[in-house]
Amino acid sequence: MTAPDAIDVRRASPDDAPAFARLMGDPEVFANLMQLPLPSADQWRQRLATPAGPDHLHAVAVRGGDVVGSAGLHPVERLRRRHCAMLGISVARSAQGQGVGTALMQALCDYADHWAQILRIELTVFTDNERAIALYQRFGFRIEGTHRGYALRHGRYDDVLAMARLHPRPPTLAWPPG
Ligand SMILES: CC(C)(COP(=O)(O)OP(=O)(O)OC[C@H]1O[C@@H](n2cnc3c(N)ncnc32)[C@H](O)[C@@H]1OP(=O)(O)O)[C@@H](O)C(=O)NCCC(=O)NCCS
Repeated sequence: MTAPDAIDVRRASPDDAPAFARLMGDPEVFANLMQLPLPSADQWRQRLATPAGPDHLHAVAVRGGDVVGSAGLHPVERLRRRHCAMLGISVARSAQGQGVGTALMQALCDYADHWAQILRIELTVFTDNERAIALYQRFGFRIEGTHRGYALRHGRYDDVLAMARLHPRPPTLAWPPG
């Protein structure tokens, strides 16, 4: 049996749509993502039912039966960039600072490193999002540069950092060469 405050990470399903709409409807959350205000459960149900591609991962963190966070790993489709994926993450305001983001990052990095042929994980993060930047750095992401005036947030074009993590131990063949 799972302890009441244990955090489980599982794949999201269309039935999680109301939880996604609630999570992404919080200005403290969507402002730091590339999401828009006023999300609806219908919109999310459609998105979760028909992901952009079969290899896209939408995961949720569940604690005490409630969805308290979500994270996604989205492969870059171009042939020469098939080793890359974009990461996004969000945790409900009431559950932030309690290890939910860490659990989601752990699950996504494990999925990328050991199963999904991903060697480079990329993301953007607003330059003032210290908590997110610290979390990413703990998982081996490095700052690669700044995109100036990258996205409209609260009526202002704000800067984001480009961050990426290269696979710490790229997979090798299991048999000796030649
Ligand atoms: C960023 C976010 C995903 C982090 O998730 P979380 O569940 O709060 O993260 P965790 O609790 O696992 O870990 C946060 C860590 O940052 C630390 N931290 C908290 N506030 C901090 C701050 N202002 N500066 C630096 N570190 C901070 C915490 O102490 C914790 O470190 P620890 O594990 O060493 O104690 C979450 O806050 C969130 O969803 N924010 C809104 C949406 C968002 O910004 N998404 C990212 C977009 S790029």
